[in-house]
Amino acid sequence: MNGKELVSLALEARRRAYTPYSGFQVGAALLASDGIVYTGCNIENAAFTPTVCAERTAFFKAVSEGRRAFAAIAVVGGPGGKEPEEFCAPCGVCRQVMMEFCDPDTFKIYLGKSDRSVREYTLKELLPLGFAGEGVNRA
Ligand code: THU
Repeated sequence: MNGKELVSLALEARRRAYTPYSGFQVGAALLASDGIVYTGCNIENAAFTPTVCAERTAFFKAVSEGRRAFAAIAVVGGPGGKEPEEFCAPCGVCRQVMMEFCDPDTFKIYLGKSDRSVREYTLKELLPLGFAGEGVNRA
């Protein structure tokens, strides 16, 4: 599974975003170390704060299904109804969730506009000096 393939899966997941309030639609595809991919989309709420990002949807699906080791995530996002025109970087809360389960030196974050336009980062590049407590899971 390479970055382009993961971005394609994230674009597919983005179609399922529930965004009646912002109209900003995000998709994510998270590759577990055993090769299984967990997708996610953002899910908004009338009370606003219960809204969850696409990345955390994917992580929480994976962890709740027993996965704790991850290789990479692809993220795509932008205003609904058209293809993404900009790269959509994960918010700070999602970066911190990645920090809990992923090695910042090796975990890859692919940002895509399409499967022909992909940028690759490590978690460390997007979250320098990230906090990982004593109990952090680095399976
Ligand atoms: N959002 C994500 O799903 N992931 C990101 O990385 C950035 C923001 C969502 C949250 C909200 O539903 C919408 O995009 C606008 O902030």
